[in-house]
Amino acid sequence: MTVLELESLSVRFGGHLAVSDASLRVEGGRVTGLIGPNGAGKTTTFNAICGVVPPSSGRVLLDGKDISSAGTHQRARLGIGRTFQRLEVFGSLSVADNIRVGQEIRRSWSRRKAALPQYLDGLGDPSPDVELAAILTRLDLVALADQPVGALPTGQARLVELGRALAARPSVLLLDEPASGLDEQETDAFGDLLLQLASHGLGILLVEHDVPLVMRVCERLSVLDFGQIIAEGTPAEVRANEAVLSAYLGTGPTPAPGAPGAAPVEAQ
Ligand SMILES: Nc1ncnc2c1ncn2[C@@H]1O[C@H](COP(=O)(O)OP(=O)(O)OP(=O)(O)O)[C@@H](O)[C@H]1O
Ligand SMILES: [Mg+2]
Repeated sequence: MTVLELESLSVRFGGHLAVSDASLRVEGGRVTGLIGPNGAGKTTTFNAICGVVPPSSGRVLLDGKDISSAGTHQRARLGIGRTFQRLEVFGSLSVADNIRVGQEIRRSWSRRKAALPQYLDGLGDPSPDVELAAILTRLDLVALADQPVGALPTGQARLVELGRALAARPSVLLLDEPASGLDEQETDAFGDLLLQLASHGLGILLVEHDVPLVMRVCERLSVLDFGQIIAEGTPAEVRANEAVLSAYLGTGPTPAPGAPGAAPVEAQ
């Protein structure tokens, strides 16, 4: 079932069209990838989905409803969760308190989603503390609950950021380069976690330059280049696509690292 749909979305910064007529769908219960070179417009697409930047045209639909005019906080409450390319956690707060911030999004707003989603073990109408314990357990953070997040290594801090997003009980989760700063073992475990969450119904849109991870966990991929979706399909189809090979995955002219058009370090 489609949880999130972008219809011909464009975002303009002055004279620069950062996202151009982009359409894509995110299905519940699977990981969908959004990949492309640096500067292609991936983070801008996330920002438009969340309402952080206004699109110049196009629509964002959540569960079939047009949410294009909803505020950022409303979109979070309606079921859009996200993490950030540059890790955004409350460093001086404990792991548990960071996750409590995510729980606050729903407090005094809605009792409609009383039972925890299946991806958080489906507990019926839990107290906030029981819900917090379920999230800590799911992310293997129980032993660190009272630690300040600022003292944790990147891999664990990224899990805390994910926990804060999950605490708002999203129906679709946008992850912006979540494996950045993770070592190989952490990346493998993170991939397993994404597959587990998706297998329990969560829709995930993954932006990531770690191509092996993307190819392993995504059922479908959309590829952005200079703001436009240049390909969509299964990982195998995208890997074989000439336009994608030349824009991102292939061995074409090599721009300087970090420059627009730079290929991912991990590309094979
Ligand atoms: N607030 C802004 N104002 C002006 N231009 C912006 C703004 N945000 C992004 N851009 C520009 O829009 C384009 C797309 O940027 P974006 O950050 O979305 O790319 P990206 O695909 O996420 O890249 P990366 O893989 O490096 O994170 C870039 O040319 C960028 O410089
Ligand atoms: Mg980005």
